[in-house]
Amino acid sequence: MAKTPDPVGRATWSSNLGFVAAAVGSAVGLGNIWRFPYIAGENGGGSFLLAYAVAIFLCGLPLLVFEVAAGRQYRRGILGTAKGIRPSLWFLGAGVAIIGFIILSYYLVVTGWTFGYLLSSPLGLDTSFDAFGSSWRSLVFFGLATGLSFTIVLLGVNSGIERASKALLPLLVVIISLMAGYALTLPGRSEALAFMLRPDYSQLLLSETWANAFGQAFFSLGVGMGVLVTYGSYQKRGASISKSGIAIVGADSIIALLSGLIVFPLVFSFGYSPAAGPQLVFETLPEVFQQMHLGVLVGSLFYLLLFIAAITSAVSLLEMAGTALSDGLGWPRIKSTLVTLGPLLALGSLSALSYSPVDLRLFGNPVLNILDTAAGTIGVLVGGLFTSIAIFWMGKTELLIDQVRNNGDARWATFGFLLGKYVVPPALMLTLIFTAARLF
Ligand code: TRP
Repeated sequence: MAKTPDPVGRATWSSNLGFVAAAVGSAVGLGNIWRFPYIAGENGGGSFLLAYAVAIFLCGLPLLVFEVAAGRQYRRGILGTAKGIRPSLWFLGAGVAIIGFIILSYYLVVTGWTFGYLLSSPLGLDTSFDAFGSSWRSLVFFGLATGLSFTIVLLGVNSGIERASKALLPLLVVIISLMAGYALTLPGRSEALAFMLRPDYSQLLLSETWANAFGQAFFSLGVGMGVLVTYGSYQKRGASISKSGIAIVGADSIIALLSGLIVFPLVFSFGYSPAAGPQLVFETLPEVFQQMHLGVLVGSLFYLLLFIAAITSAVSLLEMAGTALSDGLGWPRIKSTLVTLGPLLALGSLSALSYSPVDLRLFGNPVLNILDTAAGTIGVLVGGLFTSIAIFWMGKTELLIDQVRNNGDARWATFGFLLGKYVVPPALMLTLIFTAARLF
């Protein structure tokens, strides 16, 4: 696919569909299929969905739209955009990029697990999590997932990221629809629906429900980490940011719901507990697949789905990190991306080794879990806070609103900006406080 140059010589998506596909690829990831179902289940099912919808529309969507607007305005990654808004903000951009890089390091380990599970059952290997964690498979598959992500990013914005997203996304939609259709024929389906949709309004009175809803919304959309700034910097001026934003948010939410409709019927139909938490997908489901008719086939499809979702999200974080480095050092995109390989392998190996015979731990916890809490739970909120302050409080209001107004609705552009200015930062602060209070 030929590169379409823009006035500043930066690559652009070949069409707005390319942009939306790449952004959906970033949003739809492990967060939707692995994390959303158990978080929703633990936090009141149907009433959690209400809190989640509030988080998405009041905070997630405005931040997403204006991240894209800022990237398109300054035509740089997160570091260059922060500097463009105000030179002294470079450290906010660098901070966000570093948090994103840490997320990427362990995200690739989990992506590796999905790849490993995908291959293990057809090869007849033991698919229990214990077998996986007590072998070197975490490390090996982390290396493979990293190699694949680098290959896609190094192939370029158009021939790599855009092409991979456009090819993989339809496949993801087909698999998820097939699997949801199948799961809903299982006997546990009504119990599953009741578990997921049962409203337990008393949970809406708990700060924990809201903190979880906001945290999940930000992680799932992939906002606050400079990814959408970076992808926005490749968007053509004429495309509507608000319409694209709604498409991205809609696709991300639908896929999260469908994942719940797959995971819970499987869990309930075979008499397992849905409250297994993070282990649900890697411990409970392999057992389910072992027991069920055609389990190897269904299991492999499920892990293929998870792998596709994960790899396009990892790619987005890698592109973010490489571009930030290139903004900072003025190096070409390829060189800056390649330079991240060493540090990424080093950092990611620590997480991979925490699920290997080495059983690497810090303060008694696996490194992967520590990084997930520090960067994936707290860091995402901090990144969102930094990003929203830079964009909505320090940014040039008119320029950014103009980016959104163009080919969109002018009133919504202003309304979204006001939400971003007065609702997003306080909501993120509160979420941060409640989340930290629960953890420490
Ligand atoms: N959104 C992805 C998921 O749901 C992960 C992801 C991609 C992400 N880019 C991000 C998470 C930026 C936080 C920040 O799995």
